[in-house]
Amino acid sequence: MKRVNSLDMLISQTKSLKGELEVPGDKSISHRGVLFGAIADGKTEIENFLMGADCLSSINCLQGLGVEFSIENQRVVVQGVGKTGLKEPGRVLDAGNSGTTMRLLLGILAGQPFHSILTGDSSLCSRPMLRVAAPLRKMGAIIDGRSMGEFPPLAVRGGGIKAISHQTPVASAQVKSAVILAGLYAEGETTVTEPELSRNHTELMLAHFGASITSLGTTTTISGESKLTGQKITVPGDISSAAFFMVAGLIVPNSEIVIKNVGINPTRSGIIKVLQAMGGQIVVCNEGFSGGEPVADLVVKSSQLRGTVIEGDIIPTLIDEIPVIAVAAAYADGETIIRDAAELMVKESNRITTTTTELKKFGAAISELADGMVISGNSNKLMGSSHCQSYGDHRIAMAMAVCGLNAVGQTKIANAECVDVSFPDFFHTLQRLAGS
Ligand code: S3P
Repeated sequence: MKRVNSLDMLISQTKSLKGELEVPGDKSISHRGVLFGAIADGKTEIENFLMGADCLSSINCLQGLGVEFSIENQRVVVQGVGKTGLKEPGRVLDAGNSGTTMRLLLGILAGQPFHSILTGDSSLCSRPMLRVAAPLRKMGAIIDGRSMGEFPPLAVRGGGIKAISHQTPVASAQVKSAVILAGLYAEGETTVTEPELSRNHTELMLAHFGASITSLGTTTTISGESKLTGQKITVPGDISSAAFFMVAGLIVPNSEIVIKNVGINPTRSGIIKVLQAMGGQIVVCNEGFSGGEPVADLVVKSSQLRGTVIEGDIIPTLIDEIPVIAVAAAYADGETIIRDAAELMVKESNRITTTTTELKKFGAAISELADGMVISGNSNKLMGSSHCQSYGDHRIAMAMAVCGLNAVGQTKIANAECVDVSFPDFFHTLQRLAGS
């Protein structure tokens, strides 16, 4: 592995990956720690916070709303201002590349009786926001933006929020969380029901902060009477970052790696089940709890994988891992079909198209479906590609780097610096395990 210049990375075919690693703190949980800590009474102390660009965007926006932080290594202390203590921002709030920052903050801002403007980078400004703006408008917030509020920049005037009962058309934790957060400011109980269960970190963490919140199946109810009190949180390792090393350890021959302290919340850990069903040797051990979330160590050994079908309600539990699962499928025997995953089209890039386009450059037999992809495994016959693109999407850059580890020859990934969004140390960690 070599940095060609400040933007491009060169990946070489690797003989083996060996050793132990810890992945950085979970991105979803880190965001929620600072967002909920900000509107709690008293201090919130967060250990193992993800110092990636996305979570720093959440901190930056909250600073614009008058919240104070102290930050040292991976430890963040939030001086909570209470539910009604945020201040009208004197500047535009910039969520950068982070959909979680923008959508969850919209929920909080809906409850604030002042005006704010939220923007982001070019990727975020082309991602759909009406899925959040529409229920928040039903609750009484005034939200405007391009295409009737579909695209940022968005202007929000909150306050006077009413409780609603909302049925989300897609299983999205960001939409669910935005409505729940606005529900903290409503009189009475707000209910959200989703078609399948999405990640439930908001529900778990708000309960930990003392909110009156209950979940039954795919329905969550929050009381507007809820009070939040600052807490101590230790963020587990991010399974979405561990995913790249799980697949790398399986496809690179003679590999054995241990990924320590990974969050294995069932609403996030579909990738473990899928890779095991594909014949991947992944052993889950040392199970415990961290910050109210289940964690474990994962032992991964090289394995000959076989194709599988991934569809239905497992999809929300592995949605962010699909690009790297497609890489695993490209090295497997037989066909893998991924469907019911149209949400991939509205992530940091259109991940159906970007995954398919980039894997074809390695010679993979992959085609797009309207809601997924079909991959005919090529067991170990891929060739390195000298012109992979990241599209500024961290998970595409990392998935293609993993693909390059077992492809013949070298792979060059342009604009690979976007890994900083969720895993700033990704290439160093890979280098260490490859012994290069
Ligand atoms: C996230 C929810 C998911 C996920 C994203 C993080 C969250 O998005 O893809 O990376 O932290 O709530 P959706 O809510 O759009 O499914």
